[in-house]
Amino acid sequence: MDVSIEEDARVFTEPSAYADEPRFYAACARLRRECPVPYVDVEGFAPFWAVTRHEDLMDVERDAQGWRAEPRPALGPDRGPSASDAPVRTLVQMDPPDHTTYRRISADWFKPQKIALLGERAAELAKRSVDRMVELGGECDFSADIAVNFPLYMIMALLGVPESDFPRMLELTQELFGNTDPELARTGDSSDAMATLLEFFEYFQSLIDDRRANPTDDLATVIANASVDGEPIGILEAIGYYVIIATAGHDTTSSAIGGGLAALLAHPDQLQVLMGDPSIVPTAVEEMFRWVSPVKQFMRTARHEHVIGDVTIPESGQVLLSFPSANRDETIFEHAGSFDVTRDPNRHVAFGFGAHYCLGTHLARLETRAFYHELVPRIVEIEPAGEPEFMRTLFVGGPKHVPIRYRLR
Ligand code: HEM
Repeated sequence: MDVSIEEDARVFTEPSAYADEPRFYAACARLRRECPVPYVDVEGFAPFWAVTRHEDLMDVERDAQGWRAEPRPALGPDRGPSASDAPVRTLVQMDPPDHTTYRRISADWFKPQKIALLGERAAELAKRSVDRMVELGGECDFSADIAVNFPLYMIMALLGVPESDFPRMLELTQELFGNTDPELARTGDSSDAMATLLEFFEYFQSLIDDRRANPTDDLATVIANASVDGEPIGILEAIGYYVIIATAGHDTTSSAIGGGLAALLAHPDQLQVLMGDPSIVPTAVEEMFRWVSPVKQFMRTARHEHVIGDVTIPESGQVLLSFPSANRDETIFEHAGSFDVTRDPNRHVAFGFGAHYCLGTHLARLETRAFYHELVPRIVEIEPAGEPEFMRTLFVGGPKHVPIRYRLR
């Protein structure tokens, strides 16, 4: 049966659509070809236009004067709170001048020279993760057993939080970001999502108190003791900062690592290419970011009328930027639908672009490269032990189960 354009455009509002990648990408390919800026009016969501082409997405991202993040920085589930409408304000929902002021607080921390200092720690944690695969005896669920933990260890190291708090942080970040997937949510009830947020608040409130009383040289201290316009940073703003770093730095990177392996296993020729020359790990990692596109969307609101292609967006009109769709745009990527570990250049937009360009790109690259630098040379054999399963999500996601069988050195 023929599917209408309107039906294809609904993929952006259906958490289950992201869990069915062939359907999702087929819908996006058709939209890019036939209706690249569809108007999406679906029950439970305020209407918006979806931006599906790479060039159009870049034009919106580039034009910070013409678009703002507030009041709707991302598409949330149709009921209940989500990370994007939490009662704290985070960078992703700020516009200048606040965005500029708050981003500056941690910008130095995320610069390449500073992040490079974490190289040894990343290599050590990558080794620990791959050793853990060996301990698991040749079979595991790579996403749930390995990929989920590694980036959280890194982010907690960055924040200066003790390892003993890792299990609690894991539970909280997953519930908050995976809360449209019934398997990962507490019960899927919105009051539970609020309970998750409150736990985050309590946790970070005591972290702030501690770092104000006992400053160290970690990122938590920088945030807790930051000043904004000559005044100490507000408690909600400081908590918002921790929330965005802990959440943005976790499921995104674990999805890239888990999705990266799922892609290698689904394309055994590409796995062979990578195993034959592990020096191309950095190039392969960029292709993983493009292929997985862990962040599915952000939104912008028009400050004035815009024309995108042949569609007029009125003042206050809202657009959804589809990063996964832009990353499969055939006009930008040769053989866009092929996973190619040697793709170079790779102009993917998995980290966004412009004023809100991902603050954690250097860290995400460092971690993902460290992991694959450790894993690839140790592979003797590796194969799927079942079909991967993808997360139901509207915002951040990738595989939640990647069953594998392997022999490692
Ligand atoms: C593969 C991993 C990651 C992906 C795909 C990713 C993707 C993104 C995207 C698409 C945005 C929005 C950009 C835009 O609106 O143009 C973003 C923003 C952000 N990311 Fe990442 N990210 C990743 C890892 C990280 C890590 C490791 C951290 C921090 C530790 C981080 C921190 C942030 C922050 C703080 C923002 C908000 C920046 C702002 O609004 O100014 N991200 N990220």
